[in-house]
Amino acid sequence: MTTTKKILLSGVKPTGRPHIGNYFGAMKQFVDLQGEYDSRVFIADYHAITTVQNAEELSQNTLDVALDYLAIGIDPKKTLLFKQSDIPEVCELGWIFNCITTMPYLMRAHAYKDAEAKNKEINVGLFDYPLLMASDILIQDADVVPVGQDQKQHVEYARDTAEKFNRIFGDTFKLPNPLILDHVKIIPGTDGQKMSKSYGNTIALFAEDDEIKRAVMSIPTNSQGVDEPKDPEIDHMFALHKHFANAEEIKEIEKRYREGGLGYKESKEILISNITKFISPLREKRKEFAKDPEAVKKMLKENGEKARELALQKMEVVRKAVGL
Ligand code: TRP
Repeated sequence: MTTTKKILLSGVKPTGRPHIGNYFGAMKQFVDLQGEYDSRVFIADYHAITTVQNAEELSQNTLDVALDYLAIGIDPKKTLLFKQSDIPEVCELGWIFNCITTMPYLMRAHAYKDAEAKNKEINVGLFDYPLLMASDILIQDADVVPVGQDQKQHVEYARDTAEKFNRIFGDTFKLPNPLILDHVKIIPGTDGQKMSKSYGNTIALFAEDDEIKRAVMSIPTNSQGVDEPKDPEIDHMFALHKHFANAEEIKEIEKRYREGGLGYKESKEILISNITKFISPLREKRKEFAKDPEAVKKMLKENGEKARELALQKMEVVRKAVGL
């Protein structure tokens, strides 16, 4: 980790099992980018408390995220993988940001507006979410923040907050840039819509074989017989084949669909086999890491100490600028 590399920072909320769509849409990019940047990825456990309010669940989810990322190839030697709460100073910085931010400005946040439109109970933590996220980013002097479209506004909040702080207290923070991950593969779910937890159409990234089978078997088909020609463009299975079969296989499947001769049963069997081939090595790697949770916790702790070290240097400058 040389200092000449640009600093990349991202946070992941520990809120459950990732699915294949999460992998291609976000997680994989951290692995692809980890050599190129001074990479720092943290598990946003403070943020999670806005929704997860059970100690056992939170600590289990936190460990699970660490295992997920190790399994997909995050290398702790290349990426500083740590827990947000190992830098309690982000809350201190968040408070300072609270004091220079107006309520109407925070009321413009999409996440807040959505929650309000749905008449959800909104805790102060949820309302203040963008400023804690700004602290995460700015305390690390991050240059780039890889996020999906849905988090773009949050990075803009961090930028605005940095500018405002700099204006009031003097030049202190670097202005971060979002790295929007929109060239990534969007994986369709079992119903043809984008794979998403909220649609209930997901296939878990570390699914067991029988889960993969069940998910694929649940893909709806019509009553066309084996020999009837089928239009691959409107077939949910084909949409998935495109992501899990190799180029030659895809051509072959498409040909057999169009000419007739490929039945849904066989199509599903091919898909199950290909998804299993993709998932099983990741799943087995995760199981290996899961055998030694203490080693994973130790890694998180050591990395947390390093990340805090960096944050404390920044906070010294901040406290001085503010007059604390
Ligand atoms: N809000 C992000 C999400 O829900 C998680 C997050 C928290 C984050 N702090 C961050 C992402 C800082 C990037 C940078 O996915």
